[in-house]
Amino acid sequence: MKLPPETIASIRRRLIGWFARHQRVLPWRSEPTAYRVWLSEVMLQQTQVATALPYFERFMRAFPTVRALAGADLDDVLTLWAGLGYYSRARNLHRAATIIAHELGGRFPDTPAGLLALPGVGRYSAGAILSIAFNQPAPIVDGNVTRVLSRLFALRGDPRSPAGLRRLWSLAEQLVDPRRPGDFNQAMMELGAMVCTPATPSCGKCPVAKLCRALALGQPERFPPARRRSPVRAERWAVAVLRSDAEVLLVRREAAGRWGGLREFPGLVVPASQSAIAALRAMLRERLALRNVRLSPVGQVRHQLSHRDMTVEVFTAAIPSRIEPSSDARWVAPADLSSLAISRLTHKIARAALGA
Ligand code: ADE
Repeated sequence: MKLPPETIASIRRRLIGWFARHQRVLPWRSEPTAYRVWLSEVMLQQTQVATALPYFERFMRAFPTVRALAGADLDDVLTLWAGLGYYSRARNLHRAATIIAHELGGRFPDTPAGLLALPGVGRYSAGAILSIAFNQPAPIVDGNVTRVLSRLFALRGDPRSPAGLRRLWSLAEQLVDPRRPGDFNQAMMELGAMVCTPATPSCGKCPVAKLCRALALGQPERFPPARRRSPVRAERWAVAVLRSDAEVLLVRREAAGRWGGLREFPGLVVPASQSAIAALRAMLRERLALRNVRLSPVGQVRHQLSHRDMTVEVFTAAIPSRIEPSSDARWVAPADLSSLAISRLTHKIARAALGA
């Protein structure tokens, strides 16, 4: 789909004018260094601006430069990330910082290929860093941009299909303003976040309403076509909060997968054929060599993730013989839980079992 030059010029002018007047004041916008743009964009990929803001500020205070981040312990990075979810983002940030600090002399790459070679940096983050920090006319497409473009051009078809993605990236590439690429890209995202919202867009406030084909068709919210969500699966868990000398036992999750590398109370997904308590007993025996633990039920905790609806049966037990701490298992005072890299679910379980 090739856009006429006058359409491109009009969209650029309207969006950049609107952005100058209506953009939110955000900390990474006032000082758009590559490091700050990178960190903020990684946070914003799966997280709302309001949630990401305090994390961004804390992160910048703890690790003000990419070298500081590279020199940090992964555990400290994960601790600061705790609660944001999608922890592979934090592990990739740390690995990428190490590469930048040790192999690239502390300088961010300023080419697409250089950026794409970093762990966790895809086409979206590369485009954001190139356009916002380095003023290069690189396109970006995220969920907000997808919605804006789908409506502006009344695009039918699945925006996540290979053909849909090619079309979106091609439109974004034609549109990005080479004179103000960072402002243009952020204007598209800002419009999607503030005006061109999913369910009830505020077309009366939209600077490109006149050009919007979906609005002309009368039902802008019908674009893009609704995604068929993968079904939410119910998952039954059993978790043991083991106490000894007023401390509780945490184990570490393996690095890959959900909550990779975080600490948690020992637990497992209960197989359909077993009771929660039987599955938990077997796990404590095999993983921690604990036998005859007197588990008392404390109740259920519910936790929802995008594709999981978790019901967690929580048990506690006082155990007389303490397990030796190791890289995998460690005893902590409940008051110290908040300074560790643990998930929101683990906090909920602690609250249910300990009132902590
Ligand atoms: N969402 C993700 N990154 C953004 C940015 N730079 N501006 C507005 N919304 C965003």
